[in-house]
Amino acid sequence: MTIRNLTRQDQAEVIRIHCRNLPESPFVQMGEEFLSEIYYPTLLKDKNTFCLGCEWEGKIAGFICGTVNALALSRKLVTSNLFIWPTVIGKILSRDPRRIGFFLKLIRFAFEKSPAEAKNIQPQLLSFAIDEEFRSAEFFRKHSVKIANEIFHAAVTELKQHGVTKFKVITDRKNIANIFYRNMGMKMAAANDPKSEYCLYIGDTG
Ligand SMILES: CC(C)(COP(=O)(O)OP(=O)(O)OC[C@H]1O[C@@H](n2cnc3c(N)ncnc32)[C@H](O)[C@@H]1OP(=O)(O)O)[C@@H](O)C(=O)NCCC(=O)NCCS
Repeated sequence: MTIRNLTRQDQAEVIRIHCRNLPESPFVQMGEEFLSEIYYPTLLKDKNTFCLGCEWEGKIAGFICGTVNALALSRKLVTSNLFIWPTVIGKILSRDPRRIGFFLKLIRFAFEKSPAEAKNIQPQLLSFAIDEEFRSAEFFRKHSVKIANEIFHAAVTELKQHGVTKFKVITDRKNIANIFYRNMGMKMAAANDPKSEYCLYIGDTG
């Protein structure tokens, strides 16, 4: 098993893993163009953001992305793609005008008020997914490796190397990732809005 920094050459595979494992996420619902023309190119270029992949026998089994400054990254997603956004939105809506709903959901998600204790925490773990065959009970029985744990710890180490002490993660309230983050020692933000579809967790780099 190798954990390494991902590059533009890995982007297509990362998007396939993202779409397979997070089909309900607003990013995926918007359409693949957003991921391939805006989201991942920006993440892979940004100096304060990292994308780690876990390679198992030459295949990318999963990945995790994180940033030292989520606010700066959000601004970059908008400002460094000003000319690409209209084309991407046009392409997505021309295929399916109902997708306008997903743009609105994404905007709501982006501007959702942060619980008080997370306001000043800009380091954040972003997209995270392990392909199902590499997180099955059968895989664990055979190899005794929990890829999700290994890559999560590698991401926390990466944040620590950037001088980060506290970081956050946002996940859908119904996602099994809630259990995973709690298992990893992250704490749910006390001021989480119970009506929100999302849950915010805060972790320490130790
Ligand atoms: C989130 C993710 C990386 C965690 O990796 P993982 O290998 O599944 O982690 P774990 O096996 O430790 O699972 C965490 C918990 O969920 C449970 N779980 C895992 N798969 C499950 C399933 N299909 N149904 C019910 N429970 C499940 C596990 O039993 C474990 O609970 P436990 O500690 O009480 O035993 C992985 O599930 C994944 O890639 N999911 C899809 C993408 C995603 O949701 N990403 C997170 C975005 S914020």
